[in-house]
Amino acid sequence: MADAGGVLEARAVSEMPSEHKGIKGKQIKGGDNLGWGTRNRLSRLIKPDGHCQFLPIDHGYFQGPTRCLERPGETIRDLFPYADALFVTRGVLRTCVNPDIDTPIILRVSGGTSVIAEDLSNEIITTSVEEMIRLNVAAVGLSIFVGTDYERQSLENLAMLISECEDYGIPVMAVTAVGKELEKRTARYLALSCRIAAELGAKIVKTYYCVEDFEKVTNGCPVPVVMAGGPKCETELEVFDFVYNGIDKGAIGINLGRNVWQNPHPVAMMRALNAVVHDGITPKQAFDLFKSLQNA
Ligand code: 5RP
Repeated sequence: MADAGGVLEARAVSEMPSEHKGIKGKQIKGGDNLGWGTRNRLSRLIKPDGHCQFLPIDHGYFQGPTRCLERPGETIRDLFPYADALFVTRGVLRTCVNPDIDTPIILRVSGGTSVIAEDLSNEIITTSVEEMIRLNVAAVGLSIFVGTDYERQSLENLAMLISECEDYGIPVMAVTAVGKELEKRTARYLALSCRIAAELGAKIVKTYYCVEDFEKVTNGCPVPVVMAGGPKCETELEVFDFVYNGIDKGAIGINLGRNVWQNPHPVAMMRALNAVVHDGITPKQAFDLFKSLQNA
């Protein structure tokens, strides 16, 4: 029952410290003027140190039952405690992910193509805003295909999705996809794609690392950049190297799938990467940690 007893009068401003000391927020690139809901959702994905490690398991949306992701629920069982967010489609979310988990969800909402079709870039938006809200997602992700026959369509998908999501404070993560043309991953191309995504209103951009001039990609993008992994690297050290260098050159984190769950020691890989992202350990230290965790 409401109780009016013992209500104390508010203090006069003159009795209070002159400086207003509110809660100091974390640094999120381009995030100072976001609405409260958008900022709060984004803040769930990006940890207090300003970094993040997402775990993508969305590959089946065009690749089918990808190796080591045949049963996504089993793949993530021991990994999700170390993930700052899961990137997943609604189908796998509903069927394979326990709704009691606390891990924020980034919902993959583009699709409509398959790996055996001519062109992977001919995507549509697959999921309504009502569905995003029903699934209580922290963000949504959609691919753009700059420089392809469907460039305009994928950019229109992004722009329309952002306009709809703005009404509900749902941040959109743009994925700069290259389809089957992996050789496209140069700084010039990635910088172009990331900047276009941010100009259209993406709150975060996922792109690939490139050895040369990666800082041009991050510098030219006014919102946070996270790195995807691409096909599995030959060695673990290679992965730690590019993640370390990418963060050093301005990426805030990673969204690595195959290089984690296709590794014979996925938990050790996930945890060692977590230490690179969040604790800034060197590639050599990460490799040593990986080795020590293999038998843990
Ligand atoms: C698949 C994706 C993946 O989320 C992204 O490519 C990251 O996974 P990986 O590290 O395996 O490349 O967008 O469409």
